[in-house]
Amino acid sequence: MESPLVLALDTDDPEQALAWSRAAAEAAGMVKVGLELFAAAGPGAVGALAGEGRRVMLDLKLHDIPATVAGGMRAAARAGAELVTVHALGGPAMLEAAVEAAGDRCRVAAVTILTSAGPADLAAAGLPPAAEAVPRLADLAVRSGCQAIVCSPLEAAALRARLGPAVELVCPGVRPAEAGGSGGLMERSGSPPAPILLHDQARVATPAQAMAAGATRIVVGRPITRADDVGAAARAVRDQALAARPGAAGDEHANRPNAPGVHGRLDGLLTEEGSDQRR
Ligand code: C5P
Repeated sequence: MESPLVLALDTDDPEQALAWSRAAAEAAGMVKVGLELFAAAGPGAVGALAGEGRRVMLDLKLHDIPATVAGGMRAAARAGAELVTVHALGGPAMLEAAVEAAGDRCRVAAVTILTSAGPADLAAAGLPPAAEAVPRLADLAVRSGCQAIVCSPLEAAALRARLGPAVELVCPGVRPAEAGGSGGLMERSGSPPAPILLHDQARVATPAQAMAAGATRIVVGRPITRADDVGAAARAVRDQALAARPGAAGDEHANRPNAPGVHGRLDGLLTEEGSDQRR
């Protein structure tokens, strides 16, 4: 079964990125090259990973005039990326230009609202709350031909119900539930049950919650790459995700991606205090 784990290779060292990719080779279905690695190592980083047989998501979150985004998309496809991100906020003309430039060489994933953005961040930018902004941006992206949507796991159930089964939902903002030291997680002393290190993420869920909510892929970086044993941490996340995938044996939420319990369980996991735990 294909692993839904996308490992975020957030480093400026291409050798480190390759080492993480190799360590997680069995557990990660894709690896993700983001701004840091791309700025440091350029398209060669994508080529090196693709050359080792890795499926590569290139997360540049393109947001520019349509012609510039189209050019960037063509270059990304040439470099060997399979999935390339753009900002849905770029609007219909930009999104359509991206999709046309991608052709059948790669897929376009539209970022709705960053998973690091909490209510106060959105209000400060003059944007409506995520519950309102994300479905509007996702509708726009799908209407413009984008094949994938990047969203928080908190919005995955609503988007899956709204957009149907064909759209790929890619969810960052995923944090494993266990507090095991090798997972790179930190237990908040005296206030169980929230053993979650959020880093700079604000709208998060566990791998199981994200998959039960209808995610196609989950993007995880620091909880894996900062673990003592990257391979073991990646396998643990993969296993949590696969066990909860709709249709998995024993999954009570099978074929019920918009099961109401998903948000209830998350509410129990993350307190307001936990949501402020940014790093
Ligand atoms: O280390 P962590 O698991 O927080 O990494 C999440 C990755 O997903 C980062 O590379 C980040 O750039 C990316 N991402 C995100 N939120 C989005 C889109 C991408 O966190 N909306």
